[in-house]
Amino acid sequence: MPIREPGICVVDVEKGELRGASNRYTKTMADLAGLYEDEAAYKAALAKLDDKVVYEVTDFKPSADAGDMIIGVTRMIPGKVGNEYFLTRGHIHANANRPEMYYGEAGHGIMLLESPAGEIRTVEIGPRSMCYVPPYWIHRSVNVGTTELVMTFAYPADSGQDYDIIAKAGGMRSRIVDDGKGGWKAVDNAGYRFRSRELVESIMAK
Ligand code: NI
Repeated sequence: MPIREPGICVVDVEKGELRGASNRYTKTMADLAGLYEDEAAYKAALAKLDDKVVYEVTDFKPSADAGDMIIGVTRMIPGKVGNEYFLTRGHIHANANRPEMYYGEAGHGIMLLESPAGEIRTVEIGPRSMCYVPPYWIHRSVNVGTTELVMTFAYPADSGQDYDIIAKAGGMRSRIVDDGKGGWKAVDNAGYRFRSRELVESIMAK
C-alpha cells in the first residue's frame, strides 16, 4: 500500500453529512421497493414523499485497499411505512469477515443485526453511543425516533456490500415496528426464509 496523505473531515450533525466527503449517495422511497411489509402503506408513502431523500450517506474513501479505511456519515429522516419504522436497505459485507463501527450523533436508532444462520440482535443507538458490528453480521439501521438519525461510521475499505443476501431470504428475520406506546418492538417477518446450512457455511468460510 502506498503512503497516503492524512485527511480531515468535519461531521455536520445539523445537516447530517460529512463535510469534505468524496462520495454521496441518496435513497428515495422509490429506491426502497419491496422492503416493507405493508404494500398499500408503501404506495401511500411513495406518493407522499415523492423524490424526497429518505436517507443519504456521505463518505471519505481514500481507496478500496485491504488495510485502508472508509469513514462517513449517514442521515435518515424519521417516519413509518404502516407501523414499520424507516430503515436502510441493509447488507452483509461482500468480504463477510469485515467489521464496522457506528457512532450515534443525533436521534434514536436501532441497528438490526442478523447472523447468516438467522440469529437476531437489536442494538439501540443514541448520541455518543458506539455500536460494534462484528464480522459476518448482516446489518441495517432503523430510525425509531421522531427526529433525523445521524450516525458516523468506519469500516475496512475492502469490505464491499452484498445487498442480495437480504432479498434472497425474503427480508431480515425481524421487522422493527411501533409498539403502540411510542416505542418500538421487533416482530417476526412472516416472509422470512432461513438460509440453507450449505449457504451459511459458505458465507462463514469467507
Ligand atoms: Ni456495512
